[in-house]
Amino acid sequence: MSNSPRPSILPSMAALLFGFFILSVMPNFAAAITRQYTFNIKYQNFTRLCHTRRLVTANGQFPGPRLVAREGDQVLVKVVNHVAENITIHWHGVRQLTSGWADGPAYVTQCPIQTGQAYTYNFTITGQRGTLLWHAHISWLRSSLYGPIIILPKLNESYPFQKPYKEIPILFGEWFNVDPEAVIAQALQTGAGPNVSDAYTINGLPGPLYNCSAKDTYKLKVKPGKTYLLRLINAALNDELFFSIANHTLTVVEADAVYVKPFETDTLLISPGQTTNVLLKTKPHFPNATFFMAARPYFTGIGSIDNSTAAGILVYKHPSSNNHFKKLPSLKPTLPPINDTGFVANFTRKFRSLANAKYPANVPQTVDRKFFFTVGLGTNPCPENTTCQGPTNNTKFAASINNVSFVLPSIALLQSYFFGQSNGVFTSDFPQNPPKPFNYTGTPPNNTMVSNGTKTLVLPFNTSVELVMQDTSILGAESHPLHLHGFNFFVVGQGTGNYDPNKDPSHFNLVDPVERNTAGVPAGGWIAIRFLSDNPGVWFMHCHLDVHTSWGLRMAWIVLDGPQPNQKLPPPPSDLPEC
Ligand code: C2O
Repeated sequence: MSNSPRPSILPSMAALLFGFFILSVMPNFAAAITRQYTFNIKYQNFTRLCHTRRLVTANGQFPGPRLVAREGDQVLVKVVNHVAENITIHWHGVRQLTSGWADGPAYVTQCPIQTGQAYTYNFTITGQRGTLLWHAHISWLRSSLYGPIIILPKLNESYPFQKPYKEIPILFGEWFNVDPEAVIAQALQTGAGPNVSDAYTINGLPGPLYNCSAKDTYKLKVKPGKTYLLRLINAALNDELFFSIANHTLTVVEADAVYVKPFETDTLLISPGQTTNVLLKTKPHFPNATFFMAARPYFTGIGSIDNSTAAGILVYKHPSSNNHFKKLPSLKPTLPPINDTGFVANFTRKFRSLANAKYPANVPQTVDRKFFFTVGLGTNPCPENTTCQGPTNNTKFAASINNVSFVLPSIALLQSYFFGQSNGVFTSDFPQNPPKPFNYTGTPPNNTMVSNGTKTLVLPFNTSVELVMQDTSILGAESHPLHLHGFNFFVVGQGTGNYDPNKDPSHFNLVDPVERNTAGVPAGGWIAIRFLSDNPGVWFMHCHLDVHTSWGLRMAWIVLDGPQPNQKLPPPPSDLPEC
């Protein structure tokens, strides 16, 4: 990757030495440490596809620096804003147990870090191991502000699969020749769909299938007969991606920082916000070929998208010569057709929790509260005396959950909740069911207008929740990767068409369902998830396609404090940014 493998990690020398000392004396003591990082948010020029752009970066790197920690470690990241834009960073998938102030979504858990200001995110990684990502969580700034979170097992713990020879992060992203902030600002004004990206990237590089890009190709150099762990991260703004490496089979071993039952596949689907670890076994002997690894979108909607292909190259190091690979033939993988919903349904069903004694799947077996949410697109009226370019006559594109298009407040929900000042900021009457039931996946209703508001749902501590999310066909059935902050959830069921509350629950998997933080609501279908509200705070839930989030496909849960001291949200840190 283009960023150096040496982040600005400063676990103080004393702490390190102390750690080694403890370890040498007490070999079974899995010493958790504190890891300190500084992210200086600054501009840096990057050129791709012969277009030079000033990107908002962390420490001048694109993709951003790696954050590495062991399970149990405390992480402190001081984010210093040296750019004109307001900034927040989200540690996507980190549970943030009683550390909601460090979660990061702008106007949900914090006001943004303003120019010249700093904020130190302080959290501990509890009960998670694998790969996650961090990204900016304000407007579309995550187009260039993202990077990997690598969570290693505790010291003296091993992987529940073959120890890899090497571990390599593979981040998928999107490159825009123009400023994505201008793209979304214009789209929100006109009501039209935003312009699409110009390329997809692998570790920041689009690869040889684009004009003026051959030199910007990610090369994964491997040795024959070894096992590599690829940490796949989809950090693209708006696109679910298929990924495949020619002539190689991958073994999926982890998803969203939870181990899964290993399974083999030639092709993966990975949605924005999803992460997955796969094992790549290289061929036993030097092959007389190189192998493309390619990523291109999965899309079922009716809007326009970037239908291009990013490619990197898997290169075997020749035992003797150096640049030998240049003369070798390049094999290309075959990826599924762009709208292959069949592949996707099949593929997502393969994910199962390990569900063993060491790594149990704590699926809520009983349910305290049930919710049914429709997710999908809709319209807003055009403001008076203006013309709009939305989907129908003078409308603007919108998106909603239960027909509510969520409006971000101007002060953070968590602050107004914590200090009991919700008046005029948010209400607690988010609809638990669609306000007007209809045939969700049939002919859409004539009236596609959404309502707009800042509505939340309140859950007492330790409530076991079942949530069914149903895609609608309004303005096109489309897959929506839904992300829940603050929790992992179990995907206990999924299906096509309309969810049937009488028939479908009998097929739920309550034994080994996959545990994730982001899961796709299938195009023209539904998923059922369960989670336990064991984390007090305000937790955002939204589609991880940024365009849909911007249009309002988002809402927030408020989880009340529990009775024990360690079940309460502590007061905010003193450096929490002000609005
Ligand atoms: Cu990765 Cu709320 O986002």
